Amino acid sequence: MNWYELSLVSKLFAILQYFSFICGHSVPYKELFVDQHVDHFNFVSFGQHTFKERYLVQDQWWKPGVGPIFFYTGNEGPIDTFWDNTGFVFDIAPEFNALVVFAEHRFYGKSLPFGNQSFSHPYIGLLSIEQALGDYAVLLTTLTQELNATSCPVITFGGSYGGMLSAYIRFKYPNLVAGSIAASAPIYLLAADSKRDFFWEDVTKDFNAVSPKCVDIIKKAFVQMDVTSTKPGGLKQLSTTFGLCKPMTSNTDYRHFLGWIRNAFTYLAMMDYPYPTSFMGNLPGYPVKVACGMILNTTDALHGLAQASAIFYNGTSHPCFDIWSDFIECADPTGCGLGFDSMAWDFQACTEVHLPAGSNNLTDMFPVLPFTDEIRNQYCQKKWGVAPRDLWSQAQYWANNIKSASNIVFSNGELDPWHRGGVIKPPNPSVGVIMIEGGAHHLDLRGKNKDDPSSVIAARDQEKAFIKKWISEYRAST
Ligand SMILES: *[C@@H]1O[C@H](CO)[C@@H](O)[C@H](O)[C@H]1NC(C)=O
Ligand SMILES: *[C@@H]1O[C@H](CO)[C@@H](O)[C@H](O)[C@H]1NC(C)=O
Ligand SMILES: *[C@@H]1O[C@H](CO)[C@@H](O)[C@H](O)[C@H]1NC(C)=O
Ligand SMILES: *[C@@H]1O[C@H](CO)[C@@H](O)[C@H](O)[C@H]1NC(C)=O
Ligand SMILES: *[C@@H]1O[C@H](CO)[C@@H](O)[C@H](O)[C@H]1NC(C)=O
Repeated sequence: MNWYELSLVSKLFAILQYFSFICGHSVPYKELFVDQHVDHFNFVSFGQHTFKERYLVQDQWWKPGVGPIFFYTGNEGPIDTFWDNTGFVFDIAPEFNALVVFAEHRFYGKSLPFGNQSFSHPYIGLLSIEQALGDYAVLLTTLTQELNATSCPVITFGGSYGGMLSAYIRFKYPNLVAGSIAASAPIYLLAADSKRDFFWEDVTKDFNAVSPKCVDIIKKAFVQMDVTSTKPGGLKQLSTTFGLCKPMTSNTDYRHFLGWIRNAFTYLAMMDYPYPTSFMGNLPGYPVKVACGMILNTTDALHGLAQASAIFYNGTSHPCFDIWSDFIECADPTGCGLGFDSMAWDFQACTEVHLPAGSNNLTDMFPVLPFTDEIRNQYCQKKWGVAPRDLWSQAQYWANNIKSASNIVFSNGELDPWHRGGVIKPPNPSVGVIMIEGGAHHLDLRGKNKDDPSSVIAARDQEKAFIKKWISEYRAST
């Protein structure tokens, strides 16, 4: 591209940015691409081959060559989704004079190393945490050189799996990263012997905190469903009650249907934010409270459960629900998302990322839908021809042995069913740990809102103080 074309493109960008700005959807960005080797660790096999990794940039607040770089380590989805739901970074970028960069994780969004072929053998093997961190390290190195910013401190941000990556990039590349905010990052799950049975118990606790009676009715509804499902015409009746587009006809359908309902409750709990959001589905404020309100407000337990499930799926498919396209069963019992993303995350859940176990109707309110290590191994062999290597993940990503970590804040939400997989106690004084009372999944990364509880306002202030400290220490040492 010559200079003239480039300047046309940047004018076009300016117009697009203006439009996305006046529509009020989100902070505008420039969408850029960087060449990445598909395999950072093998100079022979695919080593020569490169692909375009997407990243988003906003430089309006940056003091060139001086201000820090705020770098979001993208997780398992298109990076613009995270851009639109990580307002904290934009809220604080102006006072830090920071350059904001969000990098897309390989195999998600537009960053597919082999296009639509990426998800088949042998290409899928290029999807790993190591490779993704390698991409981020190369991008940071390239970008800071291009921008004459090699002496600017880099602070990384991430939530959930992106939070794990934000911590890992500080573990692995402290030469490039001065400090990290790792929000709702369940890194202890990567200990081979980690407890994995807390997730559904904690989803249940969220509903119980709103109303124990709500939990009783949900349990009753699942029993009633089992009874109905075995009666003649029962599956059809349930399909009608839940507004399914196509009546269920088999046991396989019914099992999937149970997973579909459980998945709705997972997201109601994870996204239990104080105000309406459209992050993963369009949800009202405090969706757990809304769901229990519906459940308690009906004489028929099944209708209550159906209405509660519809809160989550309403945004994705209506007027009727297709359980097979709304929900994909995979190696992550808490859900893998949809489309190509779901394949990539399934593969990651089958290799390095060991997730929670299934529900048991003992410590939780859900039907018995087990997911053990043995089931995982069998599933992963069959689906991808791979066996998870839990000891590798534990050794490579430190698991719960993080004494040698530094300059990271691990924040967790008390309402977030993931929090028991996260860091709850600081391993040393250079690592901050924050528990956000009344906070759901990485609420602290969201932009400020008039309905924020004081706990999250305090958490963000603490995070800012850590960032200031890391930056001044970095400057003092260079
Ligand atoms: C790749 O898949 C996506 C989503 O299914 C589709 O929209 C796109 O057209 C495909 N691209 C090619 C080159 O086949
Ligand atoms: C970086 O510095 C070089 C040498 O001083 C200069 O030529 C170049 O324009 C600078 N690049 C940017 C993006 O500021
Ligand atoms: C859950 O456990 C209770 C108590 O053992 C039992 O009565 C009920 O039928 C179980 N529910 C389901 C859906 O399996
Ligand atoms: C409860 O149900 C009644 C009657 O259907 C309805 O008018 C009311 O709005 C419902 N309340 C809640 C909290 O959903
Ligand atoms: C479903 O979505 C529609 C349109 O967005 C909205 O009007 C309706 O209230 C929603 N229903 C529920 C149960 O959330």
